[in-house]
Amino acid sequence: SPLSSWLTQLPKIELHLHLEGSLEPQMLFDLAVRNNVDLPYVNVQEVTKAFQFTQLQDFLDIYYQAAQVLVTEQDFYDLTWAYLLKCKEQNVLHVEPFFDPQTHTDRGVAFSTVINGIDQALTDGKEKLGISSELIMCFLRHLDEKSAFETLEQAMPFLAKLKGVGLDSSELGHPPEKFSRVFAKARELGLLTVAHAGEEGPAEFIWTAINDLKVSRVDHGVNAIQDPELITYLRQTQMPLTVCPLSNTKLKVFEHMQQHNILDLLALDICVTVNSDDPSYFGGYMTENFEALAQALDLNQTQAIKLVQNSITASFCDEQRKQELT
Ligand code: ADE
Ligand code: ZN
Repeated sequence: SPLSSWLTQLPKIELHLHLEGSLEPQMLFDLAVRNNVDLPYVNVQEVTKAFQFTQLQDFLDIYYQAAQVLVTEQDFYDLTWAYLLKCKEQNVLHVEPFFDPQTHTDRGVAFSTVINGIDQALTDGKEKLGISSELIMCFLRHLDEKSAFETLEQAMPFLAKLKGVGLDSSELGHPPEKFSRVFAKARELGLLTVAHAGEEGPAEFIWTAINDLKVSRVDHGVNAIQDPELITYLRQTQMPLTVCPLSNTKLKVFEHMQQHNILDLLALDICVTVNSDDPSYFGGYMTENFEALAQALDLNQTQAIKLVQNSITASFCDEQRKQELT
């Protein structure tokens, strides 16, 4: 459709993307062979079948298992490069990807292997594709504070390659304040902070992400709608929410895209943005997320442009790059 090609052409920004979640089934198989890792799937059809989760934890179990095929620096380079090529195809000009070091260091892959592979691809992405980036390291919230501190320690020689830290994995039972001290240390080191909050968890977790972790953005945040005072606060402070429509319907945060609240939040003048989260698992990259909103919620061009402007405002790039993107 005309809108669909307009959405592909529209210059876009991505602020919520897990690199491990951009591992496509074909690369999963190729890396399994390359590294001699056993997979519980024999073909792409079986992978597709396994990708039929209806809640966050079911997805995470499969996502962490698949990540085991990532072993060498070249693997992390290839993963990141494939994502950047997709961005080029969809006119995504700036990205702020997440990675989960503990998923790899806990099985013996060195922190340096992970970050050097990712960083080299991001550097090449800037030079060869013109895509700028800021990298964010996430702590896994189902692990303890000690493990997060150890991860921050491992990151010390690489601080120049990192813009911020985030918090992801199983939200229920793991409130943001579990990591208040690690986040305070990260901020002392000059890192910005973000956290997944209000995806499956309650609006209260958005408050504690803001007040205890001092986040610059909230990842997901859609459950803010349950708390009128929080909605007022988010509007007055223009605290950004990195919303992921296809992720939310795949994980049944909303039963159908028609029920998604992103355009309601936009109408309330909250700084919402569109992102893909884990595109290989949830059915699409940036363009597909915008298209889903156009199909189910009649997203128009004015709204799409505002959503991208919000992403520029919310991004961690410098003022000069923001000017170029505007
Ligand atoms: N890790 C990767 N994707 C995630 C999500 N949507 N929520 C929590 N942790 C994640
Ligand atoms: Zn996420």
